[in-house]
Amino acid sequence: MPPCTATLVALSVAPAAMSILTKLVLGAMGQLRPRPAFGGAAASIALPAAETRGGLPLMEELAKRRSAREFAPDALPSGAYRYDAAAHGLSLVATSDLRRVTGYQDFVDEAPLDLVSAADHARMGLVPVGQRASYASAAAGAIAQNVYLFAASSGLATVIRAWIDRAAMAGATGLTRDQQVLSSPTVGYSMAREAQ
Ligand SMILES: Cc1cc2nc3c(=O)[nH]c(=O)nc-3n(C[C@H](O)[C@H](O)[C@H](O)COP(=O)(O)O)c2cc1C
Repeated sequence: MPPCTATLVALSVAPAAMSILTKLVLGAMGQLRPRPAFGGAAASIALPAAETRGGLPLMEELAKRRSAREFAPDALPSGAYRYDAAAHGLSLVATSDLRRVTGYQDFVDEAPLDLVSAADHARMGLVPVGQRASYASAAAGAIAQNVYLFAASSGLATVIRAWIDRAAMAGATGLTRDQQVLSSPTVGYSMAREAQ
């Protein structure tokens, strides 16, 4: 059973980003809150079948793989969704714009997509308690590397982030105490691409 059983996707259109300092102060006060969503959010989204062919050769992907922190503020439908692996679809968990809550850095407010990996410790009964967090972190790292390789192959920009207000994130998405937020890769087109 994989340790990372919940992936939440926060996406939305947004007004101006908050500064890191403002977010840190709000986070310290327990006041880092989601913003209202724009437009309606579908209750569920069926995902297309995974692409298993094409793309760049692996060595070219690895050569292009890098972290980026400047994203074009492209619009996506609003809402936060949980990835349902069995159905290969997204289920709505919050109608608000959670991007601000997924990290302290200012670019997360405006980048179109944040993928949040969360481990469900309640489903790791076969893993010794003391090893659950490290198993989950290794799985989140592997997930993030897949995101990096897909981004490199598709001309997208991404950065894995672990500097997250985990309490705010858990509160906004209704995570239980057994569900541990691990990392949140941001994904979008780079600002440099927009300028070309
Ligand atoms: C576990 C982990 C957590 C990270 N957290 C953040 C973060 O919160 N914010 C950020 O901007 N970058 C974060 N990074 C990205 C690193 O800063 C990045 O990998 C590093 O700058 C190397 O750049 P490269 O990925 O282009 O090789 C994190 C990386 C790792 C492995």
